[in-house]
Amino acid sequence: MITLALSKGRIFDESAPLLAAIGLSLAEDPGKTRKLIVATKNPGVRVIIVRATDVPTYVQYGAADLGIAGSDVLAEHGGVGLYQPLDLAIAKCRMVVAAPEGFDYESAVKQGARLRVATKYIGTAREHFAAKGVHVDLIHLYGSMELAPLVGLADAIVDLVDTGNTLRANKLKVVEEIEPISSRLIVNPASLKLKRSALGPVIDAFGKAARG
Ligand code: ADP
Ligand code: PRP
Ligand code: MG
Repeated sequence: MITLALSKGRIFDESAPLLAAIGLSLAEDPGKTRKLIVATKNPGVRVIIVRATDVPTYVQYGAADLGIAGSDVLAEHGGVGLYQPLDLAIAKCRMVVAAPEGFDYESAVKQGARLRVATKYIGTAREHFAAKGVHVDLIHLYGSMELAPLVGLADAIVDLVDTGNTLRANKLKVVEEIEPISSRLIVNPASLKLKRSALGPVIDAFGKAARG
């Protein structure tokens, strides 16, 4: 049996066409069922439904043989113990620094102001500002980062942007690009050795489906 770790919402929604193309459609809709282990059309492959940030952990420890995770999540996890053979080019967005429309971020940075930055992505933010030599106090949040500058919790945020709708709705603007984000197929290296005859074709099929 091969176990694939997925998160519901965006990752599942954008993976669904790939899964269908390679014969791994789910027996139940993960958005509706309360089950956390879901069968696929292929009797040799099952899906476990976990939080997006937990996908690398399940794969790292071999509780799942493979999974689909955003490069943002993988950067925070560190990628230790994970083979990352494929960029699936789904759930694409950008990691950015954003600040209130009226805030002169460039001047604040030039003047050496110590900025307060709220983010779910502590590791990515720390690395970004350290590389620029900018001093920041990081505030760890778990969601709705866009609220932080509006209520005086932070001067800026590090978060994901796709359409820009969330930033616009909260009168924030992008002040720096950090990196483009997309989702990757991740594989447990021991699984790959022990189950190569079963896993190899699944990985190859994902690759073909992702290339369209
Ligand atoms: P969470 O509940 O952890 O926020 P999401 O389903 O929102 O889970 O995000 C899962 C992954 O999808 C993220 O790790 C990221 O790679 C990607 N993602 C998040 N937000 C967006 C977005 N607005 N547009 C495109 N991709 C996104
Ligand atoms: C993500 C991200 C931004 C928003 C950006 O939030 O954290 O808030 O999408 O997308 P946009 O530029 O198209 O508006 P998400 O919808 O995943 O909400 P949640 O993670 O707080 O549940
Ligand atoms: Mg989200």
